[in-house]
Amino acid sequence: MAYNLLKGKKGIIFGALNEMSIAWQVAEKCIEEGAEIVLTNTPISIRMGDIQEFAEKHQVPLIPADATNVEDLVRLFQESMKHFGGKVDFILHSVAMSLNVRKKRSYDDLDYDFLQKTLDISAISFHKVLQTAKKLDAMNEWGSVVALSYVAAQRTMYEYNDMADAKAMLESIARSFGYIYGREKRIRVNTISQSPTMTTAGSGIKGFDSLVDFADRMSPLGNATAEECANYCICLFSDLTRKITMQNLYHDGGFSSMGMSYRAMHQYNKSFENDDKK
Ligand SMILES: NC(=O)c1ccc[n+]([C@@H]2O[C@H](COP(=O)([O-])OP(=O)(O)OC[C@H]3O[C@@H](n4cnc5c(N)ncnc54)[C@H](O)[C@@H]3O)[C@@H](O)[C@H]2O)c1
Repeated sequence: MAYNLLKGKKGIIFGALNEMSIAWQVAEKCIEEGAEIVLTNTPISIRMGDIQEFAEKHQVPLIPADATNVEDLVRLFQESMKHFGGKVDFILHSVAMSLNVRKKRSYDDLDYDFLQKTLDISAISFHKVLQTAKKLDAMNEWGSVVALSYVAAQRTMYEYNDMADAKAMLESIARSFGYIYGREKRIRVNTISQSPTMTTAGSGIKGFDSLVDFADRMSPLGNATAEECANYCICLFSDLTRKITMQNLYHDGGFSSMGMSYRAMHQYNKSFENDDKK
């Protein structure tokens, strides 16, 4: 059901690759809720993914940009403002990649060039987006910027690797930039810490199926889906959340407040039963 929460608003969505992408779900909801959007992703992801079809189906501009490249970002904001005939009201940063994860380098055997790339793509790009938007004065007052994070920023998660460091930095950037952008332009900046979700980026993590299952058993409300995450993003882009800023907002069915659940304990005990049978 649509509520017209974003009627008249204009936004830029980074990171939709295919239907599984969280950003894809957000883009669909934004359109349903009455927003005008511009989509962006890297040229290679545009070629490899399905986003071109989405853009054609919904008749929205798709502007290639590498989120780590400031020149690309300047062009993206300028072209978006030209298309909208004005400034932007919301931005979704749904961008992450770790070559250490992809190439299966463990956290105690990191390739440092890969680590620099992880941080640049998954965290510093958020600063670049914010700084470019601010310098170009590309956002309307009371605009909203959201980036996607994960609880591995606070708690060690097996095999999340250098992405944990990137997420910690991402959340810090939301606070540091949120202060300045709020004070000077009344723009809010937040991160949503989302449940593990079956997407292209997610499934690159070793043992991801088990992580998804464990998180689901630990969370009283179960894991949050990509579509539910999109609903939360819409709320944060809307005028109903104008005084929420500089926050890391958990959207995880309660996982982050849990220690042990009945369902997880039950499964854990089963593993002992099997051991006893051996
Ligand atoms: N899937 C999960 O379990 C999960 C959980 C919590 C947070 N997140 C976060 O959600 C966000 C979206 O990931 P997803 O799970 O939807 O996976 P996804 O693979 O669909 O999206 C990741 C996107 O990042 C884009 N990207 C990579 N490098 C880029 C660059 N240099 N410039 C611009 N874009 C670039 C990719 O093209 C892709 O579209 C990420 O920040 C991810 O860490 C995911």
